[in-house]
Amino acid sequence: MLIAFCPTWAQLPQPVQVEQVNLNKPDLAATPPMGWNSWNKFGCDINEELIRTVADAMVTSGLRDAGYIYLNLDDCWHGERDALGFIHEDSVRFPSGIKALADYVHSKGLKIGIYSDAGSETCGGRPGSQGHEYQDAITYASWGIDYLKYDWCNTDTRDAKEAYSLMARALRQSGRDILFSLCEWGNNKAYEWAEPIGHCWRTTGDITCCFDCVLDHGGWQSLGIMTIVDTNEKLRKFAGPNHWNDPDMLEVGNGMSLNEDRAQFALWCMMAAPLIVGNDIRSMSKQTADILLNKEMIAIDQDSLGIQGLRHKVEAGLEYWLKPLKDGDWAFCILNRSLEERTINLDFRSFQMYDNLSRRSLETSWHTYQVRNVWTHQDEPDTSHPRCVTIPPHNVVTYRLCW
Ligand code: GLA
Repeated sequence: MLIAFCPTWAQLPQPVQVEQVNLNKPDLAATPPMGWNSWNKFGCDINEELIRTVADAMVTSGLRDAGYIYLNLDDCWHGERDALGFIHEDSVRFPSGIKALADYVHSKGLKIGIYSDAGSETCGGRPGSQGHEYQDAITYASWGIDYLKYDWCNTDTRDAKEAYSLMARALRQSGRDILFSLCEWGNNKAYEWAEPIGHCWRTTGDITCCFDCVLDHGGWQSLGIMTIVDTNEKLRKFAGPNHWNDPDMLEVGNGMSLNEDRAQFALWCMMAAPLIVGNDIRSMSKQTADILLNKEMIAIDQDSLGIQGLRHKVEAGLEYWLKPLKDGDWAFCILNRSLEERTINLDFRSFQMYDNLSRRSLETSWHTYQVRNVWTHQDEPDTSHPRCVTIPPHNVVTYRLCW
């Protein structure tokens, strides 16, 4: 009889198993994240004065109001760990501390991001988070951090899924909503397993400011825009709201030609990529600002359907990219990958197609779409009218076809 009143094994408190903690990822990236990051332009040469003036420029340039809300510190903000293992900022470069900087950034209506690494040291040789994941997450939360980019240098034999899950759990338990950006360069195919863990994941090695090149650094390579596009394009099925493929940051304004800058921006928008600006926005030209602030192009990236676009057709040095958008619209982008100007007779009616992934059709053979040129910001004749289009070398022509 007594036995009937004894709790069964299942009713006894069970030890919490790490794998069972529900990551319960916060919904912070319904559309691809947008912001600025220090790495592409400034590398390790960052300090609080720079970040404050960039915060100011994000407001005065109009970037914040166009949607670029994250101001992200990359590598090299770190000082040392203290005797208890807590990380501190470099007190020479950040004398007021990261908390004060975060308060300043927040006061501008922006959010702030930080960078760490799953290994013993970051790629820049600063202290990594390995063995300090919970301490670091608590520290970031106490500073008011909103975004963490988590790199993969010096990880030795660590298992990537385990390492990224551990930091994701630490962030969840820090009590603050922190967007989690994985940066393992696609080496461990994070796109196949990281949807419950993070909001975006790098799909390639580091970008370099060139349209079509691969630079060898002895042991690792950095990649031009086209090399990155060719890898990222194949991974479209892994992307969607709250879990985006990340083909690395923008190089717009860092030294490519204006055509090439436009091409990168358009392709990143067609691929629903995070739009993380990487130039010195305090002194950018009007032409650079016009690219980054092109609201019609940004709307293609930020479309709520959340489908990464596809390279539909390649013909005579031209690539035809399509991206289904909400309410039956489509984005249509022609990239001239060649070094010669191309002029074509474009008839949208021959682009009727069905996209298996999104289960959307481009119905140009029987339906007439209104045509909006998103670079000239002009309405053009509808899709029932063929047109002559000239695409300069390494440039794009982009339309929104409105149902
Ligand atoms: C890696 C990342 C880069 C950048 C550097 C910083 O290379 O992929 O984006 O964060 O580290 O050291």
